[in-house]
Amino acid sequence: MRRLLVTGGAGFIGSNFVHFLVERTDVHVTVLDKLTYAASPEALEGLPSDRVELVVGDITDAGLLDELVGRLTGEGDAVVHYAAESHNDNSLRDPSPFVRTNIVGTFEVLEAVRRHGVRLHHISTDEVYGDLELDDPERFTEATAYQPSSPYSASKAGADHLVRAWVRSFGVAATLSNCSNNYGPWQHVEKFIPRQITNLLDGGRVKLYGSGANVRDWIHADDHSSAVWTILERGEIGQTYLIGADGERSNLQVVRLILELLGHDPDDFDQVADRPGHDLRYAIDSTRLRTELGWEPTYGAFEEGLARTIEWYAEHGDWWRPKKAQIEAAYAAKGQ
Ligand code: NAD
Ligand code: DAU
Repeated sequence: MRRLLVTGGAGFIGSNFVHFLVERTDVHVTVLDKLTYAASPEALEGLPSDRVELVVGDITDAGLLDELVGRLTGEGDAVVHYAAESHNDNSLRDPSPFVRTNIVGTFEVLEAVRRHGVRLHHISTDEVYGDLELDDPERFTEATAYQPSSPYSASKAGADHLVRAWVRSFGVAATLSNCSNNYGPWQHVEKFIPRQITNLLDGGRVKLYGSGANVRDWIHADDHSSAVWTILERGEIGQTYLIGADGERSNLQVVRLILELLGHDPDDFDQVADRPGHDLRYAIDSTRLRTELGWEPTYGAFEEGLARTIEWYAEHGDWWRPKKAQIEAAYAAKGQ
């Protein structure tokens, strides 16, 4: 049976990909995840034990990686590397785990796949390209120059550069993808959309950074997973693919929509301290992925997906409620 090692497979997007693999393919999945505060091992509960194995460990542990990657000797076996520290606001408070996990961790992943001659797909973000003006007619493409703004995006950019160098200098068989903002079930309550939904579900208030003019390009995590699978199956080694679903919305638009969907006055939100260095706009041109590999997003409209996400959070309070107080206290300490 074909085998994949999925790092960070207990996180928001990694666990979505593990579900995709179990439901849509016959591969065997080993998840390597440190189970940091951001992990949701609950998202993997109930998956068949003959298809999915969870190994709790750190991607900076070279010995463990060597052992796990060394098992991937078959045709079509690969490492899909999602594990990362992922939240910009945390990177502004303490960048050190971002450098350790995102840069040093990716280095260790690269060394392991290099030693064992194993295919790698590296998961990255559109944030490596910096930001766009609101009226910029050009969106990010694979040719856009790197210009990261935050310690998080700089650490992801550093990781991408290592992957590209290992392809060119050592012949590592890797592909890369840079995706836009994901939403959907199991996203941590520290992130924008789950934070607002769960604030309202708990009787709290929506917290918008600054004026809310900042634009994000939303894609459902299910579409991200199908894109990664498409790249694994048909992507050209050494290439980068941008993943996006044409979902640009300002934060103000998103906030007003969440308020309306939950039966509140759409103008009843708090404007709070802005994020230092806050990127203004991300927008993805995913033409290469669509025309060369034939991928299309299939999840419905953002408004419909958001309504379903709200329903999901309303039904999963047992999972997110224990995480909420500590996160909100940290935001409150920063005036957010
Ligand atoms: P997440 O924070 O929800 O999950 C990250 C997972 O990685 C967690 O399960 C955590 O325990 C694990 N992890 C962290 N450090 C680790 C380490 N040292 N060793 C092993 N496991 C470790 O993140 P996410 O939102 O699911 O993002 C996953 C990946 O996708 C990241 O690489 C991120 O940069 C990228 N990405 C995210 C988005 C988004 O909108 N969330 C968009 C584009 C790309
Ligand atoms: O673009 C891809 C990136 O998207 C990923 O690489 C990151 O891992 C992921 O976290 C996400 O980064 P953002 O910084 O865009 O996401 P976040 O959910 O933190 O914030 C989305 C927008 O909402 C951003 O403009 C900041 C704003 N915001 C955020 C929070 C938490 C608010 O207005 N209020 C909030 O309470």
